[in-house]
Amino acid sequence: MSQSLRTVVTMEELFSARNSLPGTVGLVPTMGYLHEGHISLVRRARAECDHVVTSIFVNPTQFGPAEDLEKYPRDIENDTRLLENAGAELVWTPTVKEMYPDNFQTWVEVEKLTKPLEGAMRPGHFRGVSTIVAKLFNAVRPDKAYFGQKDAQQAAVIRQMTRDLNYPIEIVVCPIIREPDGLAMSSRNTYLDSKQRQAAIVLFRALTQARKSFENGNRDAESLRKIVKSVIEEEALAQVQYVSCADYDTLTELDTINRKALLSLAVYFGKTRLIDNFILG
Ligand code: PAJ
Repeated sequence: MSQSLRTVVTMEELFSARNSLPGTVGLVPTMGYLHEGHISLVRRARAECDHVVTSIFVNPTQFGPAEDLEKYPRDIENDTRLLENAGAELVWTPTVKEMYPDNFQTWVEVEKLTKPLEGAMRPGHFRGVSTIVAKLFNAVRPDKAYFGQKDAQQAAVIRQMTRDLNYPIEIVVCPIIREPDGLAMSSRNTYLDSKQRQAAIVLFRALTQARKSFENGNRDAESLRKIVKSVIEEEALAQVQYVSCADYDTLTELDTINRKALLSLAVYFGKTRLIDNFILG
């Protein structure tokens, strides 16, 4: 059942709207240009909490100097329509000035977990993510916060930050929503031209092939990485940045898969960088 959605911009408006919500609050932080992946988080929050608060903020501090901050896609009208249909009650769309006023100088940094994988490829990225999520947590004071398994390392970093800083917030991680052909939904998929879009299904195929080998008893992490790489390398438009098979909790690379593992990858199609992952075990 959809209800009316209220948009707030300033911190003051947010506080007064937040304080008028009795019962439990679920927070879904986003950067907008919403798709079914984001909306699945809103629906889960809707099912588990009395109220759903979402945020749309393209957070400049998590983009590197050569990344796509300026051209990151935006469509606030469509976003608010989707949020309203999914049952969100409040969307907070703060300005950059509101979140990072002049003389801003305090950062949240999760150490070990941010070193490998995305952290190694995107220096400073997770410092921006953990700082903005801490600020959203402080302002919204949710009971639960919802994140996607699509950004597996991000979810791990937020879980760690929540424990380390004693936020009384339950972190809920939701499954990856995919297009019918297997491509993980992402706002960045809109950058792909039609040939690249077609080529991008190779990621799901490669992960699926490695998972089959795992299910047939292969516990050798390097051999699974090789399966993923070799399938992707058959696709001329794809350029592998990394393929990882790591411990699910610590994200350190494994030799033998003897516990829950994360098989993850980052691959370029032209200038567009896509990530995806499967959980093994
Ligand atoms: P954004 O990329 O907009 O994603 C918002 C949330 O949606 C994240 O938790 C992400 O993992 C989840 N999500 C994206 N695609 C998904 C898919 N296909 N299936 C399931 N969930 C999916 O992640 C961010 O924004 C930012 O880093 C943020 C946490 C908002 C901090 O700025």
